Amino acid sequence: MSFAESPNRILYFCSMVFLLVSPNALKAGAKYKDLYKRPTQIPYPASNTYSDARMILGRTLFFDPRLSGSNWISCATCHNPAFSWGDGLAKGIGHGMKELNRRTPTILNLAWGELMFWDGRTESLEEQALGPVASTGEMNLPIDQLLAKISKFEGYQVLFKGAYPEEGITKDTVSKAIATFERSVVSGKAPFDRWIEGDETAISEKAKHGFTLFNEKALCSQCHSGWRFTDEGFYDIGLVGDDKGRGKILPDIETLQYAFKTPTLRNVDHRAPYMHNGSEASLKKVVDFYNKGGDVSRGSKSEHIKALMLSDEEKNALIAFLKTLTSNDAATPVTMLPR
Ligand code: HEC
Ligand code: HEC
Repeated sequence: MSFAESPNRILYFCSMVFLLVSPNALKAGAKYKDLYKRPTQIPYPASNTYSDARMILGRTLFFDPRLSGSNWISCATCHNPAFSWGDGLAKGIGHGMKELNRRTPTILNLAWGELMFWDGRTESLEEQALGPVASTGEMNLPIDQLLAKISKFEGYQVLFKGAYPEEGITKDTVSKAIATFERSVVSGKAPFDRWIEGDETAISEKAKHGFTLFNEKALCSQCHSGWRFTDEGFYDIGLVGDDKGRGKILPDIETLQYAFKTPTLRNVDHRAPYMHNGSEASLKKVVDFYNKGGDVSRGSKSEHIKALMLSDEEKNALIAFLKTLTSNDAATPVTMLPR
């Protein structure tokens, strides 16, 4: 599937002309633009290639609350497209209205993801997909019961036949279909991307200044790098709390204690409150937090988290930049559930 095909050569030419006529363009972060170009293609693994039938089956499963023991919770209950595929809560709420330990992350742009979850405990979307269904805290439906339940619906029999003709309704096909749908969930072009492509009017001068700060003085791009604004790494950024994150899995590596996955910043404006524990209520709070170098000092804390000495004007410029990462995506179609 191809999206955002860009006539790169023409844009390159235009931006060179622009650089010649505008000596300030380089100052406005132009030299970092190449590092943030969007890919033109969604990567699907050879073991689970894309088809519309697979994506549609996966989307149907994703929005189907019958995948839970209570018939009340779907993946989309927590990964709600209207909240940029999060839930707008500090911590997710699962089966029996019990609060989970961590905040619900977005599923945007995970086709390019490496390790899944805040602590990176699973290695692929396929491996991840059934975890929440069986988890007693989340959807609370054992997998054998899930398979028996959906196999009864003729509508699902038809959808599975179209998507995985030889394979039937199994653990594998359910997770492959959900993973295919998840990979198709990509944030569209934001004003920032139009600026990257050469439209100098797409974002404000203030936001351009914020982008330079993001890459230089504020150190953000040390971790939030590339077009998705994540290096897929795990860091302790100095948040208060006793959740050791990746450190629980790798207790011997000091820099991974209290470390969590660098989240994408695409559409981040729509996902407050922030962090794995929902502790920062707004982007302003996030920027204040980084500006003071985090809240706690520990041996595990990243060397890039330190007092930044940003002025109020610089903090506002950073926030203005973060807001240019929001795309106005097409609505996700939700069809009637199979019977
Ligand atoms: C009750 C709320 C809830 C439900 C229901 C739920 N999730 Fe999640 N999801 C979470 C939370 C919370 C996390 C983070 C947990 C962690 O990292 O320890 C998460 C993490 C994920 C991640 C990892 C994202 C990343 O960036 O690493 C994926 C993918 C995901 N969920 C997909 C799904 C799918 C597919 C379903 C349905 C089968 C589902 N979720 C159902 C709350 C939920
Ligand atoms: C050392 C790596 C690192 C640096 C430097 C860094 N971040 Fe982060 N950022 C992270 C990690 C890791 C998290 C998640 C931490 C957690 O929840 O425990 C995060 C979380 C965030 C979030 C919350 C996103 C969400 O969905 O919860 C925002 C916004 C953010 N960072 C913006 C910035 C900005 C702006 C800067 C520069 C001032 C910056 N970051 C610098 C690694 C970094």
